[in-house]
Formats: sequence, C-alpha cells, structure tokens
Amino acid sequence: MSAQESNRSFKLEHLFGLKNRVALVTGGGSGIGLMATQALAVNGAKVYITGRTEEKLDRVADLYSKDIPGQIVPITADITSKESIQKLVDEISAKESKLHILINAAGISSPHLNTDQDNPKALQEELFKNQSTIQEWEDVMRTNVTHLFFTTTAFLPLLSKGSEDEYGWSSTVVNISSISGLLKTAQRHFAYNASKAAAIHLTKMLAYEIVSSQIKIRVNSIAPGVFPTEMTAHGSDKKQKSTIPKERFEGKIPAGRPGKDEDMATAVLFTVSNQYLNGQTIAVDGGYLLATGTI
Ligand SMILES: NC(=O)c1ccc[n+]([C@@H]2O[C@H](COP(=O)([O-])OP(=O)(O)OC[C@H]3O[C@@H](n4cnc5c(N)ncnc54)[C@H](OP(=O)(O)O)[C@@H]3O)[C@@H](O)[C@H]2O)c1
Repeated sequence: MSAQESNRSFKLEHLFGLKNRVALVTGGGSGIGLMATQALAVNGAKVYITGRTEEKLDRVADLYSKDIPGQIVPITADITSKESIQKLVDEISAKESKLHILINAAGISSPHLNTDQDNPKALQEELFKNQSTIQEWEDVMRTNVTHLFFTTTAFLPLLSKGSEDEYGWSSTVVNISSISGLLKTAQRHFAYNASKAAAIHLTKMLAYEIVSSQIKIRVNSIAPGVFPTEMTAHGSDKKQKSTIPKERFEGKIPAGRPGKDEDMATAVLFTVSNQYLNGQTIAVDGGYLLATGTI
C-alpha cells in the first residue's frame, strides 16, 4: 500500500462513514435513541426506529430525515413482547436482506425510594412495605434486560448477513446500558440499577456466546452518564428533544454539565465503526464514575 493509500484509510469518511448500512434503533423516538438515530442517518445509514408511540416516531422521521444522506423509517413495536419483536423482524426482513447495526436503546426507569433512613424499621418501611412492588421490578427488567436478549437473538440471521457484505466489516449490536449498572449506590432506584448491571453482563455473555458460535457479530454496550431525555427531563419539546439545567451538575460531575447530543453521537459512531471492539462497555459520563467511584 502506498503512503497516499494509507493516508486515505485515515479519512473520517473511511473510518466512520455509514453509506449503505442498514440500522435498527429501539427507542429511537426520543432521547439517547434519537441521538443514535441522527448520528447514523446523518452519516449515511438507513435507520429503522421503533417505539410504542407512533406520533413520536413519525415526528422524528419527518423532522430529522430532510437533506441528509441516510433515511429514518418509523415502525411501531413494543419490545417487551416476543410477538411484537417477531413482527418487527418480519417487517424489516420483507424490505431488507441484511441488518448492519442494532442499537437497543429502549428503556424505562423505576420508582424512587428514599434510602436515607437511619434504622432498620424505617428502611424496611420504605423499601419493603410502602412503595416497592414486584411488578415494578418485573417491568423494568422486562424492558431493560429481556428486550436486549430477545431483539438481539431475533435479528441474528439478518445481522449475520450484514457481516457478509464487505470484507473487514462485522455487524454490530450496541446495548444502551448505564453507569447506574456500575455504581455501588442504588441512586434511590434499586430495580433500575440492578437492570443496568444485568444489561452490562448480558452484553458480555452475548458477545462471548456469539463469537463462540463462530458468528461474526460484535456486541458492545455504551453506559451513559446523565443525558437530557424524556426519562431524565420528564418530557420533550416539539422536536422530541429534552433539556436539563447545566447548573444542576456544577461541582457534581467533572465535566460540570449533562451530556450533549454530540457526546452520544461520537460514542455511537466509534462503537459501531471500530471493528476491534467486542464485549465491552464504554462509559460516557463526563467523569461521573471518576468522581463517585465504581463497585
Ligand atoms: N438519559 C440518561 O441520562 C440515561 C443515562 C443512562 C442510561 N440511559 C438509558 O438510555 C436508554 C434510553 O433512554 P432515554 O434516557 O433516552 O429516555 P427516553 O427519552 O424515555 O427514551 C426511551 C425510549 O424507549 C421507548 N420505549 C420504552 N419502552 C418501550 C417498549 N416497551 N417498547 C418500545 N419502545 C419503548 C420510549 O418510547 P415509547 O414510550 O413511545 O415506547 C422512548 O422513546 C434507556 O435504556 C436508559 O436507561 C439513559
């Protein structure tokens, strides 16, 4: 290879361009899923987005599909139902012969509990008697953990076809976990944090089992810190975007602010494009873990 050819392989377009790639983003109608969708579509990919709310998905496709090299295609689905996931596979298989990128971003939080109690009776009252229900635990696990398992496994054949497309490219699954799965504190939501720790471990197990079966699909996870989304800001504007005040983070996170769209976009482009990354969890948290300490 000549020096010029070598230099060409370092061009951004060669390293991160996604022309002709087909992607699916669960939870693509808002928050981190929308950030991932824009990152992929603006750089050339055709991106299918799913969620339960049709208007949200249509609005995203309408607003963010214009004048970009890629496309955004909405399909409603409930990723906590196996039948709905199968329908999604059928709908995408009818239109595409392969899938290159699956981003599992759909997720929910769990109710807040006050762990600042100074005696066993009061702590029992708060954690066992008053608030927490088994149903809440099941709901959060079903969305944040079970969904990753079933969407990933349902799309294995289509993802594998994506890897046959081009020498040097392996299709990829990116699970959106959370730094909440790496912290020892419950952050007042035990069920959510337990689900995110499970998502991180599930990522590793899926990556391992898939390579052990000699299948060429990489599975990684991005563990975000705090980003403005419907989950953290309790809503979004007409453009499906959310805000949280920067002042809330001054002195609390080394970055002194919540995450931005660009912080998530660069993490997504790196994770999907880097062919040497497999089975890993990448924390994108403005130094939150540095400041608070992990498990
Ligand atoms: N925001 C943060 O600071 C942060 C930090 C760490 C990790 N995360 C993770 O990032 C992921 C995305 O959350 P977000 O913060 O971006 O919140 P968000 O704006 O609420 O996005 C979650 C999306 O998931 C979809 N969804 C939820 N349940 C679903 C279901 N059963 N079937 C299909 N879609 C479903 C929602 O759409 P519908 O309600 O219309 O279905 C929504 O668009 C989650 O896994 C979350 O745990 C977020």
